[in-house]
Amino acid sequence: MPVPLLDLRAQHATIRDEVLSALQGLIDSQLFILGAPVEQLEREVAALSHTRYAVGCASGTDALLLALRALDAGRGDEVITTPFTLFATAGTIHNVGATPVFVDIDPTTFNIRPDAAAAARTSKTKAVVPVDLFGQMAPIEEVATAMPGVPIIEDAAQSIGARRSIDGEWRMAGEVPTIGTFSFFPSKNLGGYGDGGMIVTQDEGLATRLKRLRMHDGAKQYFHDEVGFNSRLDALQAVVLSAKLPHLAGWSAARRKNAAYYDQAFADVSEIATPYIEPANESIFNQYTIRADRRDDLQASLKARGIGTSIYYPLPLHLQPCFAYLGYKEGSCPESERAAREVLSLPIYPELTQAQLDEVIGAVRGFYGR
Ligand SMILES: Cc1ncc(COP(=O)(O)O)c(C=O)c1O
Repeated sequence: MPVPLLDLRAQHATIRDEVLSALQGLIDSQLFILGAPVEQLEREVAALSHTRYAVGCASGTDALLLALRALDAGRGDEVITTPFTLFATAGTIHNVGATPVFVDIDPTTFNIRPDAAAAARTSKTKAVVPVDLFGQMAPIEEVATAMPGVPIIEDAAQSIGARRSIDGEWRMAGEVPTIGTFSFFPSKNLGGYGDGGMIVTQDEGLATRLKRLRMHDGAKQYFHDEVGFNSRLDALQAVVLSAKLPHLAGWSAARRKNAAYYDQAFADVSEIATPYIEPANESIFNQYTIRADRRDDLQASLKARGIGTSIYYPLPLHLQPCFAYLGYKEGSCPESERAAREVLSLPIYPELTQAQLDEVIGAVRGFYGR
């Protein structure tokens, strides 16, 4: 039985009428740029993230770019992050003219190590970008304590709606840092029907500046105080996302249920390590990523049975050819390098059927002779 890594058509089938009627209303209005639909989604995402402000933009990549610009990161500055993430996290640091500084991950969660980030701090450090990898929040509060005074951009592209207990209170992805950034790439838990992104913050001044930066505008139309971008969230995407948002919590809960089912089924397979979620965290499982012995052979064997998997990420960013100028070598971030050799993401999407889950489990267990 084929089991794709992700089946967006299965999800669309469950919400088709709601989405199409919302789209029809927008198309009839012919009001495609910003306006009410984007403002509505901004209010909804701010409420979900417990933030005062939300600013829609064209993608999760642009959300990072705009956040870095709003913090004045540029030439001569250093921005600390991990190399075990999607390229956008570091590509945007480079693209604002700053220098990415890579620190290694915690091997249990794949997220940034606050002590490593603090050790990399210099007088040039402009910001730190912890990534909530695979849907589990990074230890934002520990990063803040370890690096007092350094602005934090939480790359929450994979973690909208995730939460973490901090001092006994649930804090949402994007709530605690200086700026949080989301992606609505179709494969995210809240995915659009195309690209989209959003930036959240508690800081009014940053929100105002972000709104200007996203449409190369000044305080007054056609007068420009600084050079910005054209990076608006498409109103068509905003209506799709507002139609999908009420389902997000249920979808993420279904992913957690699937994850728990896999965890139990793989508990006696010593050749693989199932995802470790910190007790303080509630993950949204954008990915269910195991570490596996003979990972490449396992992937090939699953593929032969029609089971989709992916390797997020096969080459850590400090070893990418485009960052050779930074001077990192193999061994610079050993845990990121080991993770790149061992990880494999399995299908986890909410619409997986019981039979599909059991197919994946049977194939993985069978590969290891269980
Ligand atoms: C960790 C991370 N950062 C940034 C991005 C960039 O988002 P987008 O693809 O919307 O530009 C993504 C997702 O694609 C991501 O997973």
